[in-house]
Amino acid sequence: MTTPKSFAESLIRDAAPVRPLSIGSLRLSHNVLLAPMAGVTDLPFRLLCREQGAAFAYTEMISAKGVHYKSAASFELARTMPQEGQLGVQLFGSEPEVMAEAAKIFADGGAALIDVNMGCPMRKITGNGEGSALMRDPGLITRITEAIIRAVEVPVTVKLRRGFDTGTETCVDCAKAAEQGGAAAVTVHGRFREEYYSGRSDWGAAARVKAAVRIPVILSGDVVDRESALAALRTTGVDGVMIGRASMGDPWIFRRIIENGGLPTREERLTAILRHLELLREFKGERTAASEFRKHAAWYLKGLPGSAAVRDNICKTSDVDAIRRIVADYLTTLT
Ligand SMILES: Cc1cc2nc3c(=O)[nH]c(=O)nc-3n(C[C@H](O)[C@H](O)[C@H](O)COP(=O)(O)O)c2cc1C
Repeated sequence: MTTPKSFAESLIRDAAPVRPLSIGSLRLSHNVLLAPMAGVTDLPFRLLCREQGAAFAYTEMISAKGVHYKSAASFELARTMPQEGQLGVQLFGSEPEVMAEAAKIFADGGAALIDVNMGCPMRKITGNGEGSALMRDPGLITRITEAIIRAVEVPVTVKLRRGFDTGTETCVDCAKAAEQGGAAAVTVHGRFREEYYSGRSDWGAAARVKAAVRIPVILSGDVVDRESALAALRTTGVDGVMIGRASMGDPWIFRRIIENGGLPTREERLTAILRHLELLREFKGERTAASEFRKHAAWYLKGLPGSAAVRDNICKTSDVDAIRRIVADYLTTLT
């Protein structure tokens, strides 16, 4: 006879793990999302990942205080274009009313979702009681969520870590606090604050949150390919997964996960890399494009034969056309 537990387990196992995801009123075609990453998930990179199948993407984290003080840099981080489609804006801060004010500005400007950063481990952020420091105060998590929800019509979500202090898992309490405040979903990155990005992410943290709340739960951390994406979805029962570092230099990862597709051809790789460079030039200007492209080039070329010299040459110039030639010459000679 099937016990209720094993029946539930078989349901999780048998359900197609890559499936549509609803976050409040937002309907996503599937549940494999691009994780927000400061210094990485700008408009050009998000566009490439969405084109390769990412169901949804978020801005880099944006300071609510910066928005309050009308900092141009904060608004620049939320820049989008119609081609991008629905966009999540991620805010960081700690004052409910300041967060709500910033959220309203972006929601009025067309953001499809507001996410609150409750995971950033950096001292200059946590020192102000922001990012992962919010996880020390579940009551404040509820107040922030409530304040933002009062100000906007779009879904409001939060992104947590496993906990702030190593060994003290608080993600379940914090997720419940966000749910109580009206959050439409919660993302859980299974590392403590002091772990930053090292060691293994504990997928069990997201599973424990999933068992404790009724809203959708998205897992973040160490999802690096189709196998790990399917395993994360199947073994934890979460509703979706985010891809972070594994997408750097590899926007095609989404297509591989969703369609079980292969690696990009040489032409696809070249076309995407050159387009990335062009988009950077279009949105950020020649100099910034050249300097910001360096890290992307290192990620794109990682592991390819003889690429160290190519990376060196890219770093020596601030001329985008010269970088185009270096990349094209190298990739067209690669067999
Ligand atoms: C360079 C970098 C920047 C990040 N910036 C953010 C951010 O702005 N907001 C956020 O919620 N998480 C941020 N994260 C955390 C990621 O969203 C993700 O939770 C984490 O990297 C674990 O997932 P992964 O193993 O797939 O990379 C960042 C991570 C990295 C590596």
